[in-house]
Amino acid sequence: MGGTLTFLGLESSCDDTAAAVVRHAPDKSPQILSSVVSGQTDLHAAFGGVVPEIAARAHAERLDLCVEQALDQAGVRLDDLDGIAVTSGPGLIGGVLSGVMTAKGLAAGAGLPLIGVNHLAGHALTPRLTDGLPFPYLMLLVSGGHCQFLLVDGVEGFHRLGGTIDDAPGEAFDKTAKLLGLPQPGGPSVEVEARLGDPRRFAFPRPLLDRPGCDLSFSGLKTALLRARDALIAEKGGITLQDRRDLCAGFQAAVAEVLAEKTRRALASYLERKPAEAALAVAGGVAANGAIRSALEHVCAAARVRFLAPPLRLCTDNAAMIAWAGIERTRGGHPQASDLVARPRWPLDQSAPALIGSGKKGAKA
Ligand code: KG4
Ligand code: ZN
Repeated sequence: MGGTLTFLGLESSCDDTAAAVVRHAPDKSPQILSSVVSGQTDLHAAFGGVVPEIAARAHAERLDLCVEQALDQAGVRLDDLDGIAVTSGPGLIGGVLSGVMTAKGLAAGAGLPLIGVNHLAGHALTPRLTDGLPFPYLMLLVSGGHCQFLLVDGVEGFHRLGGTIDDAPGEAFDKTAKLLGLPQPGGPSVEVEARLGDPRRFAFPRPLLDRPGCDLSFSGLKTALLRARDALIAEKGGITLQDRRDLCAGFQAAVAEVLAEKTRRALASYLERKPAEAALAVAGGVAANGAIRSALEHVCAAARVRFLAPPLRLCTDNAAMIAWAGIERTRGGHPQASDLVARPRWPLDQSAPALIGSGKKGAKA
């Protein structure tokens, strides 16, 4: 399709209810006309993780309002749209179903095409929305639910070079914070403490560095931190502020070092394809971490590869990326699926072997 396209996107696969309107005219930069995100952190705070039933109910209650706000803020009506795109997986099935049912109702009522989008594809195509990045590029997804290296060479071309075999890094940050009595979400709290800590005091492991390839593991690191904390408690009856800072610094340094080394390896595979404009893009909340970001920037600079981090509101879960993926798929000639169903599991790269882990926010891919 060659003309201007305006799409409504819906996202409800985890703990953010989101709706957005994106417009794209050929040969121009896409415009995010609105992006509404209603988070649920407060609803799940007491449970130490996302409770699927609570999430699904909140999505069902909030989706209509988010859509209304997104259309209002964009200044468009349903008849101005060219299509609706909705996350149809992977994620917590109750939430995904809420989004898919809402989108089906809207699309049928307004007579619009409906496109089911893989949530991970939404993240992976975001650098094209924000920076018009050409294919092929390397994407590192690092959040509370995802951790994988993807070689992206087309709207439908995703090759997983590696991923976590257990926890996602954000999940490890959140558990570390919990073990040390720091507030959630754990990533930012651990990062603040780490700034005043000594990263060399505790010799934390660097999981899977001794094995070839780009797979990662974070659950052993969390166990090592627990042991170090318990050893301090056994020795002196508790941990001091400085102990806590040093534990955070050691943990963060281990995550950063492992991510940097695995990125180096993923870049080597990617560069074999001789991309004209080599680039690594990151997405996910963990990409906000200063130490991790600078480690990745360093690796990219050494390999002469462009490093790209979209603004945080587009790195974390949002519906603009879903609307954009709908536009990309329409332009690429992969339009609506007549059999749109909600899928709890949906690996982007169907040919890659299954990973073992799942993640606190539900089975991903
Ligand atoms: O992408 P995101 O908002 O949501 C999903 O997981 O889908 O990522 C949230 C995760 C949380 O686990 C949070 O602790 C982590 O990203 N995070 C960070 C930082 N900010 C957020 N991790 C490390 N350092 C940070 N500064
Ligand atoms: Zn996500």
